Amino acid sequence: MTERIKIIFDGKTFEFPLLIGTEGEKAIDIKALRSKTGLITLDPGYGNTGSCTSDITFMDGEKGILRYRGIPVEQLAEHSSFRETAFLLINGELPTENQLKRFSVMLNDHSLIHEDMQFFFQNLPRASHPMGILSSMVTALKSFYPELPDMEKDVDTTVTRLLSKIRTLAAMSYKISRGHKVVYPRPDLPYCANFLNMMFDSPVKPYKIDEDVVKALNIFWILHADHEQNCSTSAVRLVGSGKVNLYAAISAGIAALWGPLHGGANQAVIEMLEKLATQGADIKNLIERAKDKNDPFRLMGFGHRVYKTYDPRAKIMKATCDKLLAKFNISDPLLDLAKALEEAALTDDYFISHNLYPNVDFYSGIVLRAIGIPTNMFTVMFAIGRLPGWISQWKESMEESQWKLGRPRQIYTGLMKRDFVPIEKRS
Ligand code: SDX
Repeated sequence: MTERIKIIFDGKTFEFPLLIGTEGEKAIDIKALRSKTGLITLDPGYGNTGSCTSDITFMDGEKGILRYRGIPVEQLAEHSSFRETAFLLINGELPTENQLKRFSVMLNDHSLIHEDMQFFFQNLPRASHPMGILSSMVTALKSFYPELPDMEKDVDTTVTRLLSKIRTLAAMSYKISRGHKVVYPRPDLPYCANFLNMMFDSPVKPYKIDEDVVKALNIFWILHADHEQNCSTSAVRLVGSGKVNLYAAISAGIAALWGPLHGGANQAVIEMLEKLATQGADIKNLIERAKDKNDPFRLMGFGHRVYKTYDPRAKIMKATCDKLLAKFNISDPLLDLAKALEEAALTDDYFISHNLYPNVDFYSGIVLRAIGIPTNMFTVMFAIGRLPGWISQWKESMEESQWKLGRPRQIYTGLMKRDFVPIEKRS
């Protein structure tokens, strides 16, 4: 017997089903609210509003839990690869050996991009932000790879093609931005190593693939692979709900991720730490500014809409930082600053009372710096990691049972009806 929620309005009692998720999360099912009561709900930023039911990712913000298809992200970071985790998110199960082999062959077969796409890169201003380039190039993929005839049958080809080409597009954009020769994908290299080679190999200095760096990149992308209904994933679902092609929906997700409050925070964290380092590290002043309501400054990489405790991804990212820097005997002053900033914030009453902890972006930039990724590509790295999540969420939203055109309502607070005034009578 489904539990029901009663709403009393206008002297009448209305009942709505109570939906209970696998992990005990509860929601009032208000699909019939307006038709039954004439009422809608209002929830700017959707902090209290569920847009869908989903089988993909579970987060518990109070306990700092994150699981992909039921598997804790800690176990995937330790034992899995990004390729395997992408397969898990998109298909619902970890791949068998044969499935992984077939997936890897498909990723390799689709790793090149149409040569004509290079003309796009060459004609964009050199200072273009890599996220703007990536978003445009992913949309352009539709022109070069028109939808396969049978979306149902061919969805695996379409999504695998995109998973593979996004790496090539990102690395190509980097090489061309530096006026360097483009490095093509290699059939003998797995996903992450192939990307690193495309980014850093050069005729004068062949790139030496280091297994610890490859492992760190796998962990980085596993940690970013999905995060239920965040801003960019909601953009992908909303744009996809109009039944536009996958590339356009993903391009919308890339654009949404670019913002400094969302995926752009990893670049903003490093810029904040670099400023601290060059202007003299006045950590106390930074903490006070972050608390000052009259100061628009926010401590980047801190706080989260869902996590009200330490972001489980930040813990793993911090450990990966330590391991990678120790391996190359790098002492990055920004890491020391980040740790000092974290310590100051976590012992400050304001941050404690507001449940503000480091999120995934706080340490991720330091891992990327150690790998050699330029700061303006940090959010591109987030986008490549999040792509399997966006694809899995898009696929789920397009399933018959889930598909519905996204169209929120509003409460109008503007002027009442009034007549047009000819220009000669306007004051
Ligand atoms: C990502 O949603 C996801 O899952 C996103 C993500 C993913 O994987 O997809 O996890 C990736 O986007 C991580 C977040 C990266 N962004 C940043 O690090 C930017 C800095 N963080 C903040 O801007 C903020 O914490 C948000 C935007 C992340 C979340 O903000 P909310 O949930 O909208 O909360 P809010 O802005 O209403 O803040 C609540 C209170 C406010 O104080 P009061 O007015 O209640 O007194 O907390 C304060 C805020 O001023 N606050 C901060 C703060 N974050 C929140 N104060 C100082 N510094 C901060 N970073």
